[in-house]
Formats: sequence, structure tokens, C-alpha cells
Amino acid sequence: MTRVVYVNGRYLPYAQAGVHVEDRGFQFADAIYEVCEVNGGRIVDETRHMDRLERSLGELRIAMPMSRRALGLVLREVIRRNRVRTGLVYLQVTRGTAPRDFPFPAGEVTPTVVCLARRVDDARRDARATNGIAIKTLPDIRWGRCDIKTVMLLPAVLAKAAAEKEGAQEAWFVDPDGFVTEGASSNAWIVERSGMIVTRPAGNAILPGVTRRTLVDVLDREKIPFTERPFSVDEALAAREAFITSASGTVMPVVAIDKVPIGDGRPGELTRRLRSIFHQAAELSP
Ligand code: PDD
Repeated sequence: MTRVVYVNGRYLPYAQAGVHVEDRGFQFADAIYEVCEVNGGRIVDETRHMDRLERSLGELRIAMPMSRRALGLVLREVIRRNRVRTGLVYLQVTRGTAPRDFPFPAGEVTPTVVCLARRVDDARRDARATNGIAIKTLPDIRWGRCDIKTVMLLPAVLAKAAAEKEGAQEAWFVDPDGFVTEGASSNAWIVERSGMIVTRPAGNAILPGVTRRTLVDVLDREKIPFTERPFSVDEALAAREAFITSASGTVMPVVAIDKVPIGDGRPGELTRRLRSIFHQAAELSP
């Protein structure tokens, strides 16, 4: 349960936390966000999340609303006030409030900053990892700058709903050439029968996941072979293992894609190992 939300300099009770009706985040999705894992009360990979936040803001020409240090203090205070030990902290920055008009507002507009934190049911997430998740594939109907973490998430919302309808927990977007781009809210990976791990290279078609980046460190450290190249749905269906990565699930095994079992239909051995060692390579904030 979220009890306290940070909104533009104030820590407000959940029921009273709101932004203006002409906030550009609300009207145009003119906003970016970050989701960080909270593990033992500490923020996982804060530096990389802040790097991506600054980059996303820069791409949209929204000013950093405050220093990284100040943002870090807000994250910590929200985590503390909501007594989150295991969960997520969400940070959103919009261009701010201005009379509705498409061009950037003239003059100084103060960005809107919202931060909330929420507990995650550890046991439920672990159960999900033990069972593995099912994927539904869908055409990627998103825009050409998926590398920017904007709140323009309607295709992801629709994809998740379509997946849920078929008993799947995540959707994988597929480009016009039949290659998987990424999950609706995760990066997509497979393990070939040879043992080679494959994930799509960073670029405009996917969000450069922080979990993805840290997992690459894990693979380097453990000398596990991996390659960054696009893979097709057919390759995924023939893979030995598959998994997704995100701040909300770290490394999550995939056991079925479009109702076809992957490998023996159970979470793969390598995936389980990567899940168990992931946090060894992650940065845990003080
Ligand atoms: N989603 N790709 C997309 C489209 C995402 O929305 C996310 C994260 C990722 C994984 O990125 P990271 O490892 O930095 O979490 C990839 C977050 C968790 C969300 O929207 O809730």
C-alpha cells in the first residue's frame, strides 16, 4: 500500500496526491519515468536509473527538475515514509502545467515531479519465478523512439490486456521482420540450444533496460557466452530457455510463448542461476 506520495516538493497522503488537469503528462504523455527495485530498503542500480532519467529528459528537452542528489533524497524519503523493504519506487517527471497547446510552452515551466513507493509481495514474485511465465507475441505498434522511457504506454497497456486474456503474464512485441523487440514492460532474452544467450542490441527499438545492462555485467563476470542480435519468434520457440528482465521482476523465467512450451516447459537452469546471482552484480544504494 502506498501511504505517502511526493508531489512537487510535498509529501502528501495518497488520497490527496494529484497534479493539475493541464499537466502535460496528463494531456500529451509529455513525461518520462523510472522504476527502481527496492531490495532490503535499498535502491537497486540507482546510478544507472539516474543516468537513464537524465538521458530521457535530455531527449525531450525537459530540464532536470532538481539535482541527482536531491532526487535521490526524495526517493529515499518516499521509501522510508512508506516503509518499503521489498518493492518498487516510481519517479515521474513531466514537462509541467501549461494551457493545452502542442508546442513546448513558451517561457519557464516548472517540471512536475511525482514519486511513490510500493511494497511487492516477495513470496508471490518468487512463486511466479518458480513456475515461470507465459508470453503472448503481438505486432510492435509503438513509436520509433522506444529508447526513451516515456509514459506513453498505451500499446503496452493493450498488449498486457491481450496477454492476460490468454492467460499470459507478459507480451513480447514483434517487429515487421518477425524479430522480437522487447516485452511490454521488460527486455526479452533467449538461451539457444548451444547455450548462447541472445538479446536484441540496444537502439531506438527497445528501452535500454537497467536490469539488462547489469545482467550483461553478470554474464561478463561469469564468462557466460552471450550475443546481442535480434532473434525471431521462431528462434524463441525453438530455444532451450527464455526469460525477461526488468526492475520489477529482475530475471524472470519464460516457460511458454504463444502457448508453445519452451525447453521442457519449466524454468531453465541457466535462467534460474542468473536470477539467483543477479544482485551480486547490482549496485545497492547506501
Ligand atoms: N518497465 N522495456 C520496457 C518497454 C520497459 O517498460 C521496461 C521496464 C524494461 C526493463 O527496463 P529495466 O530493467 O530498467 O526495468 C524494458 C518498468 C519496470 C515498468 O514500466 O514498470
